[in-house]
Amino acid sequence: MSGFDFNKRDSFGSRLGVIAAAAGSAVGLGNIWRFPYILGENGGGAFLLVYLIIIFSIGIPVMMSELVIGRRAQRNPVGAFQLLAPRKPWFLVGLMGVVAAFMILAFYTAVAGWTLEYIYQTLIGGFRGKSSEELSAMFDTFRTGSLRPALWFVIFMLATSGIVLGGVRKGIEKSTKIMMPMLFVILIIMCVKSLTLPGAGKGLAFLLQPDFSKITGTTILMALGQAFFSLSIGMGTLITYGSYIQKSNNLANTAVQVSMIDLFVAVLAGVAIFPAVFAFGISPSSGEALTFIVLPGIFQQMTGGMIFALMFFVLLAVAALTSTISVLEVIVAYFTEQLNLSRLAAVILGTISMFILGISASLSWGLMSDVKIFGMNIFTLFNNSTANILLPLGGLLIVVFLGWFFPSKHVRDELSNEGALKVRYYTVYRLVIRFLAPVAIALVFLHGLGLIKF
Ligand code: PFF
Repeated sequence: MSGFDFNKRDSFGSRLGVIAAAAGSAVGLGNIWRFPYILGENGGGAFLLVYLIIIFSIGIPVMMSELVIGRRAQRNPVGAFQLLAPRKPWFLVGLMGVVAAFMILAFYTAVAGWTLEYIYQTLIGGFRGKSSEELSAMFDTFRTGSLRPALWFVIFMLATSGIVLGGVRKGIEKSTKIMMPMLFVILIIMCVKSLTLPGAGKGLAFLLQPDFSKITGTTILMALGQAFFSLSIGMGTLITYGSYIQKSNNLANTAVQVSMIDLFVAVLAGVAIFPAVFAFGISPSSGEALTFIVLPGIFQQMTGGMIFALMFFVLLAVAALTSTISVLEVIVAYFTEQLNLSRLAAVILGTISMFILGISASLSWGLMSDVKIFGMNIFTLFNNSTANILLPLGGLLIVVFLGWFFPSKHVRDELSNEGALKVRYYTVYRLVIRFLAPVAIALVFLHGLGLIKF
């Protein structure tokens, strides 16, 4: 065991700080970039309905489970399993989370870097007068370049490292308490603007009116994968944050509130994007390009569009930053507690290793485009293998551990704060983590691996 002094662990200072940090982790590119295009490709309102059901029935219980493990153990994900299940291989679940953290941080920070390029382009008027073909070419030229994507990655990574270096309370909690309200304000302004565009109603109808005939096996599985990614569950981020939460915090309430904020932001992002997409006659199923190609096109046709473009890409960058810090914290907590490094040494080690992985990911269409693993470039490999394999597998093992291999009494004690809170939901929660969640997650996992097809 390491010589780390666990009495000196940092922690969150307030309930609001916990919500800001955890919601900051959940709300990110997943809500504003990924959710709208996945919804656009998978049936609009029908997808939203399935997504809602999954967040309530599986997302929230899995999030509660991670918080329970983290706060019970007061350790990083690897140390947590070592403490709760001594001399058993469960710590490998934590280790898998740390590996996933490295991979997610690499491709996610690369996309976050793109948002900086788009902020820069907005400021210099780079989109002005461009057709959608030209905007698409512009995106390709940027992505295949060998310097700019890497440069923006490095800048975004350093911002992430700077905050994490400040610690849990003075870095993460303090910064997210400022950034999260900012994000809400920008998003609401964007929604108001979008809703006042002519023809906005069609976009809203697409988002909110479920067409039940569009619900297929794929819709359900895409919704489940999106829920995992969006809520930041399945890789120990919330075990790590949970370990910094005070013993008096109501973990179930925290999980519900964080999930509701995450859901609300995804819906708001849809409200900001789809009316604009329809008002300008663009297909809602434009895929990943929706954010980086379609939106700049829309912005420049709007009055005051450049201001909105600037707001939008700042929004994306801020949302991404409150998420990247949570992923880096997983790595730093692991390094400090398991290897007994100082926070400074851990942040430096984490950042340097991320430079190698992340620069490779950000140059996946440029200098590193010849590097293919299983036929995928580095970015796509990291993106697919985390969302489709590591997160579902991690989530599955986390609920199986709590549901089948950890004393129920301890789980109940943790959720009820040793009996101080009523936990009337406990029977339902237990059924979900023992049966419903494992079965449902196993299905996504097998689908992600291509072992079953619907
Ligand atoms: N939840 C983040 C988003 O929706 O953008 C992404 C993410 C953050 C995934 C942290 C996993 C994680 F641990």
